[in-house]
Amino acid sequence: MKLILIGYGTVGQSFTRIVLTKQKELVEKYGFSPKIVAIVDSKGAIINPEGLNLKKALKIKEEGKSVAVDRAYGHLNMSGLEAIENVEADIMIEVTPTNVKTGEPGLSHITAALKKKMHVITTNKGPLALALPTLLELATQNNVYLKFSGAVGAGLPVLDFAKKISLGDRIVAIRGILNGTTNFILTRMEEGIPFKNALEEAQKRGYAEADPSLDIDGIDTACKLVIMANWIMDKETTLRDVRVEGIRNIALEDVRDAMKRGFSVKLLGFINEDLVVKPTEIPKQDPLCVKGILNAITFKLELAGEETIIGRGAGGKETATAILRDLLEIAQTSVIM
Ligand SMILES: NC(=O)c1ccc[n+]([C@@H]2O[C@H](COP(=O)([O-])OP(=O)(O)OC[C@H]3O[C@@H](n4cnc5c(N)ncnc54)[C@H](OP(=O)(O)O)[C@@H]3O)[C@@H](O)[C@H]2O)c1
Repeated sequence: MKLILIGYGTVGQSFTRIVLTKQKELVEKYGFSPKIVAIVDSKGAIINPEGLNLKKALKIKEEGKSVAVDRAYGHLNMSGLEAIENVEADIMIEVTPTNVKTGEPGLSHITAALKKKMHVITTNKGPLALALPTLLELATQNNVYLKFSGAVGAGLPVLDFAKKISLGDRIVAIRGILNGTTNFILTRMEEGIPFKNALEEAQKRGYAEADPSLDIDGIDTACKLVIMANWIMDKETTLRDVRVEGIRNIALEDVRDAMKRGFSVKLLGFINEDLVVKPTEIPKQDPLCVKGILNAITFKLELAGEETIIGRGAGGKETATAILRDLLEIAQTSVIM
């Protein structure tokens, strides 16, 4: 199975590391041997229809360069769209930065790949939050899959879990911590670390978005609410429908004061009648009261009551495992392995 990878930062590189480490296991356990034939970053592409040397690609990025500098297979300034146009592949993996205003460049990459009848896997929330129904329709028209399990919850299979528990039942409300970075920051603030230093730490660890305001101003959580509302609850919503307040104005004293009363301040996303993101005090014994980069989401079901799923909601490796999961699901239903 031939893959094009567009975006080669934290998540893209983690994905190739996993492919390298698990090569043998993927063949033995699933009969699956993915061949990455193109990788694109912001400055160009590296292409080999026979399959790229991933160790070499990783080394180039670790040296802080573009993959396009490779002498034998590099193409300086080649864009993602040109790679999709010129390279034959079965699947396009889109992991460029999230842009919530235009969805670009991800939106164009995903649209072009679906039109070229490539399956698409993405963790990029921008295009999904802005155009999920249209993109799903395009995938159906072209008889290919659009998979995005890493877009909500990183490695935690939030969307699959929600689909599963709503079979024969109905999710009537959702509330949860959907952003690992802000939860990490608020947890560090409970330990006495000021907001600014906690954010820097989150960035160093690769948790924060390229533009951290997406995390701290609640936009990332809002995108995930929109994806869940559309995908799980059939609510046709867009980002404009979400009332959003982030954690920028939370002070150490607010966090300390809540702790004294047995509460924690968390950035929660809510889907009820309305979609809302806001810092909320919750009791320490609430199942949502998790620490660090953990995400926790409580689904309220019509029949089964409340069910909560908890897991690591950020990080390159975690998100890359969701891509692999999507990939294996496509491979298992496809004739090309
Ligand atoms: N990191 C996480 O924990 C996490 C979790 C869930 C979802 N996500 C989502 O996954 C996506 C990737 O995240 P990340 O953390 O890997 O981001 P990142 O580290 O910032 O990497 C982004 C990559 O995209 C490349 N890029 C930027 N503009 C491009 C363009 N026009 N054409 C082609 N490539 C372009 C960058 O190129 P250069 O290398 O040249 O800069 C870089 O390689 C984002 O949409 C993010 O929201 C991330």
